Amino acid sequence: MSDVLLSARDLTKRFTVRGVYGRKAEFTAVDGVSFDVGRGETLAVVGESGSGKSTTARMVAKLMEPSAGVLEFEGEDITHAGAAQLARYRADVQVVFQDPFSSLNPRHTVERILMAPLDYQGIAPPGDRRTYTKELMERVGLNPDHSQRYPAQFSGGQAQRIGIARALAVSPKLVICDEAVSALDVSVQAQVIELLLRLQRESGFSYVFIAHDLAVVRRIAHRVAVMSKGKIVEQGPCAQVFDDPVDPYTRTLLAAIPRINPEWDRRRRAATA
Ligand SMILES: Nc1ncnc2c1ncn2[C@@H]1O[C@H](COP(=O)(O)OP(=O)(O)O)[C@@H](O)[C@H]1O
Ligand SMILES: [Mg+2]
Repeated sequence: MSDVLLSARDLTKRFTVRGVYGRKAEFTAVDGVSFDVGRGETLAVVGESGSGKSTTARMVAKLMEPSAGVLEFEGEDITHAGAAQLARYRADVQVVFQDPFSSLNPRHTVERILMAPLDYQGIAPPGDRRTYTKELMERVGLNPDHSQRYPAQFSGGQAQRIGIARALAVSPKLVICDEAVSALDVSVQAQVIELLLRLQRESGFSYVFIAHDLAVVRRIAHRVAVMSKGKIVEQGPCAQVFDDPVDPYTRTLLAAIPRINPEWDRRRRAATA
């Protein structure tokens, strides 16, 4: 990969947990994870619940300090970033979470929500607040006349579009989607995925796309990393990992997908014949 945006080397997160008899014990949630994300690329992170995907995402977003390992962004070590470097990183890297309603302040209007990242950065919106809010709403397919409404006045899919618009407000280079479409109905999910793809085509940013639905991953990702018990057990281009998995865990994961893609079925039959 010629143009690496983000590079994680041996990222590790240990938590102190209460073990038997209330004794403190160390638990390694993420165990020496390494991956690169290229400019304009989508890296999907898949794996069962509890495999360490969200913890990895939180470390990459710098919402949580790693216990060990190195994080580089545009060639700069940002593992122990200072305040100024961190402020810049917080604009360059945005997160969209699974539950839009719990990540949007229910007492703030859409306009206030969308302008919050700019306010935090101390940046004036291009044009004025109202104009830029409407522009962002249009970009994500929301009615710009609804800029003074509150999150509860929107459906789940629309609320997730607000979360996506907020992520876009400061023109990020990387957007981390942590199960961002997992809670949506299938038809709404498909629309939001098409939106995410269009936004990437328009703006050229990268995604770290965490999901457990491999059909979704297949649609959106260029490369995929498979996590199990805190480790990446396999990573590579989507087609390679899905069509020709090397790791036994990846095979189990793939075997568990409902048969929705006839092409996969054909290949699987061919492979086992
Ligand atoms: N703050 C925390 N303290 C202790 N354990 C945690 C904490 N956050 C996550 N874990 C544990 O780390 C493991 C990985 O969690 P997580 O990264 O959320 O997995 P995933 O997103 O793949 O479902 C789980 O066993 C989880 O219980
Ligand atoms: Mg998670």
